[in-house]
Amino acid sequence: VSIKAGILGATGAVGQRFVEALSNHPWFEITALAASERSAGKTYKKAAGWRLDTAMPESVENLEVVPVDPKAVDADVVFSALPADLALKVEPEFAKAGFAVASNASSYRMEKDIPLVIPEVNPEHLGLLEVQQDARGWDGYIITNPNCSTIVMTVTLKPLMQFGLETIQVATMQAISGAGFSGVAAMAIYDNIIPYIGNEEKKMETETLKLLGEFNGSEIVPADMRVSASCNRVPVIDGHTEAIWAGMRDKPTPEEVRKAFLKFDPRLKELPSEPAKPLIVRDEIDRPQPRLDRNMGKGMSVSVGRIREGIRYIAMGHNTIRGAAGASVLNAELLHSMGKL
Ligand code: A2P
Repeated sequence: VSIKAGILGATGAVGQRFVEALSNHPWFEITALAASERSAGKTYKKAAGWRLDTAMPESVENLEVVPVDPKAVDADVVFSALPADLALKVEPEFAKAGFAVASNASSYRMEKDIPLVIPEVNPEHLGLLEVQQDARGWDGYIITNPNCSTIVMTVTLKPLMQFGLETIQVATMQAISGAGFSGVAAMAIYDNIIPYIGNEEKKMETETLKLLGEFNGSEIVPADMRVSASCNRVPVIDGHTEAIWAGMRDKPTPEEVRKAFLKFDPRLKELPSEPAKPLIVRDEIDRPQPRLDRNMGKGMSVSVGRIREGIRYIAMGHNTIRGAAGASVLNAELLHSMGKL
């Protein structure tokens, strides 16, 4: 298989993770790297200012960056890591022009006819694509993945649904890479915590209900539960940590919750980016930790630990892989395995 893949916002913090995820992919081949006018016309090597701890893949070094314009991009699917205001404008232009758009941007996540999907949580929501086709009449389509903090949390909530999940409280400790390369200057966060991240709390409170909601054939009925979030930026490079309080009707014991996490195996198909274990349970008293655990399952596993009465626990996942680029790629893989890409 060789599906032509373009990356929109290819030079940014999430865009570079897309390049990393797609450069040696068995199904996708990078055919276009798009970014702003500042970067267009330059080689990717020159434009990107590669910031990941891995080496830039040689195959992209000399590709010429193109503008974010459907006419300039040669691809079947585009992965979007664009800022939300720009994504709002250009993603429909790409969908109209016939591209499959797998977006990490927040702009269309809560739209009624746009699927918001985590393959391990709600693959059946892809049924919304038919609703979208009817509503918009585009030749292509848009599919989205959630906010990084929402993904890390929701992968842990799915196995708790069986106990009658009623209330979720969460306090996040989020890495700086989530703010993009120009978002939080290193000096603003050193020896510091910033107790505000854009619209992050609202995103966690609304996206979770859509993800855990039911698709009735024409729309998503949001889950009947309450989510309350408080989000903080902390001096960590990669890896979001979340302290979660989950109130459940059946009042499971910590051991029952631990067993439910261990048993969670929602894999539907053998997808290349699917981690062997979407959830890894740590029994050590001081785990999970970002530096020790963020690269588990090539950055696609969420680690949980400190499961206590309440129920209280800690979840941690790689924000720009599991929480962003890897999530979009996994969605595109699921679409391909279903014959929709
Ligand atoms: P560029 O590097 O050329 O500015 P981050 O999330 O790290 O801030 O990255 C944002 C990504 O979106 C970068 O690839 C950036 O490209 C791109 N981008 C930002 N603004 C625009 C714009 N107005 N038009 C096209 N691409 C943009």
